[in-house]
Amino acid sequence: MNVVTPIGQFASRRDVAVDGEHPRVVVADIASRPRGNARIITVANEKGGVGKSTLAFHLAVALADCGHKVLAVDLDRRQQSLSRALVARGGTAKRLGVRLPLPRELLLLQHSGAHLCQELARAGWDCDYVVIDAPGQDAPVVRRAIAMADMLVSPINPSFVDLGLLGQFHPVTHKLNGPGCFAALVLELREARAEAGLPQLDWLVMQNRKRRDASHNQGKVDSALRRLAQRFDFRVGAGLSERVAYRDLVLMGLTQLDLHRLPDLPRARSGANGEVRQLLDDLDIGHEIGGLLSRARLEQLRVKT
Ligand SMILES: Nc1ncnc2c1ncn2[C@@H]1O[C@H](COP(=O)(O)OP(=O)(O)O)[C@@H](O)[C@H]1O
Ligand SMILES: [Mg+2]
Repeated sequence: MNVVTPIGQFASRRDVAVDGEHPRVVVADIASRPRGNARIITVANEKGGVGKSTLAFHLAVALADCGHKVLAVDLDRRQQSLSRALVARGGTAKRLGVRLPLPRELLLLQHSGAHLCQELARAGWDCDYVVIDAPGQDAPVVRRAIAMADMLVSPINPSFVDLGLLGQFHPVTHKLNGPGCFAALVLELREARAEAGLPQLDWLVMQNRKRRDASHNQGKVDSALRRLAQRFDFRVGAGLSERVAYRDLVLMGLTQLDLHRLPDLPRARSGANGEVRQLLDDLDIGHEIGGLLSRARLEQLRVKT
């Protein structure tokens, strides 16, 4: 048996259905169920530590800040980062006696696709958006969360190790040889959706923890990501920089967007708000966070007047 895949080739996903959850089976089940009106945004990438929970938290809070009803679903029952941040948010609001936009929170402890569908129907029936934070692994429930999404957002860190989940690059020449394991899964789920007559899954990949000083490595990562985007048909978002604001405020369940509601808190200048607004623009979500219009929304209004 050939156990080593030579450089330049890649093992197909087709024979690697997880626990019998082949993409076609997953999609057929989703297509057979009634679905609500909420737009589902799944934050997923088969790798841990890339910023999925950080991103899901900021996204859910930003959408709630715009006045949307949001259900935030944590599928990572081991780390529970999103749930913990949202519980902390409720506690902080209470302690400080302030009103903070609060997404509804759901931690899915029982990991079956059917259970996810049922819980979304129960807890998210009146929501505008459902934001799902997936654990960094391939599992049936993660496949389900990707297959049912209107939008898939995948953060990566700016490194060729992370790019390897999307594309297999030659280690020396950086020639693109084929899809990486996560891209192969998304492509198969997309194919299964197309076969089932479901709309195309909109896939946004964005870099997280970008350094603000341009480096040689960053340039190479940017160009590799553009090549991947063309080949595997995803959009590339502007991304988030490495910022203390994304890390430390989350411990209290806060984001930079909340600080204007907390007059006693020292307000450091940060570009975090602009980056989160840009993220909503990248997702084509019209928004008005904290009363401030996004650049895209301003453009729309300018065109109308
Ligand atoms: N843009 C960022 N700037 C600074 N720290 C970040 C940023 N994004 C994530 N982190 C930190 O990186 C670590 C992993 O992030 P997390 O969102 O938990 O990743 P994942 O959910 O993909 O495992 C956490 O300590 C988080 O605070
Ligand atoms: Mg996480």
